Amino acid sequence: MSIRTVSTQPFSDQKPGTSGLRKKVPVFQQPHYLENFVQSIFDSIAAPKGAALVVGGDGRYYNREAIQIILKMAAANGFGKVLVGRGGILSTPAASCVIRKHKTFGGIILSASHNPGGPKEDFGIKYNGTNGGPATETVTEAIFALSKKISSYRILDAADVSLDTLGNTTLGDMQVQVIDPVSDYAELMESLFDFGAIRELLQGGFRIKFDAMHAVNGPYAKHILEGRLGAAAGSVMNGVPLEDFGGGHPDPNLTYAHDLVEIMYGDNAPDFGAASDGDGDRNMILGKHFFVTPSDSLALLAANATLAPAYKKGLAGIARSMPTSAAADRVAQALNIPCYETPTGWKFFGNLMDAGRVTLCGEESFGTGSDHVREKDGLWAVLFWLNILAARKQPVEAIVTEHWAKYGRNFYSRYDYEGLPTEAANGVVQHLRDSFAALTGKSFGKYTVKTCDDFSYTDPVDGSVSQGQGIRLLFSDGSRIIFRLSGTGTEGATLRVYLEAFEADASHHHLDAQVALAGLIQIALRVSELQQRTGRDNPTVIT
Ligand code: G1P
Ligand code: ZN
Repeated sequence: MSIRTVSTQPFSDQKPGTSGLRKKVPVFQQPHYLENFVQSIFDSIAAPKGAALVVGGDGRYYNREAIQIILKMAAANGFGKVLVGRGGILSTPAASCVIRKHKTFGGIILSASHNPGGPKEDFGIKYNGTNGGPATETVTEAIFALSKKISSYRILDAADVSLDTLGNTTLGDMQVQVIDPVSDYAELMESLFDFGAIRELLQGGFRIKFDAMHAVNGPYAKHILEGRLGAAAGSVMNGVPLEDFGGGHPDPNLTYAHDLVEIMYGDNAPDFGAASDGDGDRNMILGKHFFVTPSDSLALLAANATLAPAYKKGLAGIARSMPTSAAADRVAQALNIPCYETPTGWKFFGNLMDAGRVTLCGEESFGTGSDHVREKDGLWAVLFWLNILAARKQPVEAIVTEHWAKYGRNFYSRYDYEGLPTEAANGVVQHLRDSFAALTGKSFGKYTVKTCDDFSYTDPVDGSVSQGQGIRLLFSDGSRIIFRLSGTGTEGATLRVYLEAFEADASHHHLDAQVALAGLIQIALRVSELQQRTGRDNPTVIT
């Protein structure tokens, strides 16, 4: 076996987005494409010789091939050991857990999250640091800079490593350890929550349904929910991970998790339903005929946190991404703890958690998590909910409506316009930027614009500044409209419009969010000229 240095030329498009580098599979399959990016990661992180690394992915198409390349490159770049999940599988939160538990020099996660998989669909790669969290912008910028001037990469000439048998093999001077992808993670979950109480709940006739969407969480959910917690066999549906997620779009929302939604809104619905995404970090929570918005879920977990053993002593603080509703802020205020507003993307929570400033974090995009790892965590959120349900012994709907009665309700919705021509989408954003002065102070019916800006964030821990993080129209009554271009798409541009209105009066809390937000939606369409500029009358997805 010998180390080969291969000459290469830079690709100009290897800029990591909201969560790593995401492209269509054929882009990654071009000669040297993946190799260039991996070498840029290795060169920028400069791991000490003999360091350990974690490698795993969500099992989508090209996962295994990519892992073989990464293993051979790690061996040629001086790593001493790589921990890899059996079959190349590691959910994103499990990868974070393994990095932290085994104190490796970070890890490489292969996933395009909730995007479809298959030979013509999406693939992705990202580096997570020693804290188990996504690399900060400083690191991703450094990787991008190196990718623009790379001239060679190193790879070991060797046969493929078997990924399907647990145990150790060697690759040149490097050890490859194939680990059970579930056990470290399951152990961590059991240390956080009251598994005894949840087991009792599930054995007392409380019925649950978990939709793994043919994605990575199938084996995790089966082992934990049906295995350790004794949920009825079949409680986990679509539990076998498939390379193309069964042709579906593994995003746990009311549109794409339709199998589960039908069950939860049908006759004889279970008491609790949940789904997670391609790589297992997102979650959707449902009660019987009832949907919990992710923003409300974060607020509810915060308000009830002390019911779970891990959070019994209370929370240090809460963080939410800027477009996420302010429901959590109200809970933070009541608990007298800080609430941080960060740009979109989990990488902004890491510093706050490492500094001990926050315990819980969340995003409106079906992401919730805590400082137990440095990624959002779908199954963790499900277990947290089950722990609360076991303690409170009330239906999901009753818990949520009681919460609204106490704190008020933040009506919330997000409209996504996917696959727009990039120029038209940029045009909408530019038009809004150009309208700041004209919009400020303007009234639209009962809504008056207090301020508008392009959100900018100064990290309170390291002082780094992130600009251009979303256009905000803030109204005098606390309502908000936010416009943001997605940083995870691989085709054209996706424009997201986020709408939020606060309602203190409990007699209005039963309203449908689309009804409560109808006025704001009209304002959003009007001021953005979205329809004229993009030719789209309707969003592709509403969450
Ligand atoms: C989306 C979500 C964001 C999330 C990210 C990764 O990013 O909006 O909250 O952190 O996926 O799961 P976007 O496509 O909006 O850049
Ligand atoms: Zn994901």
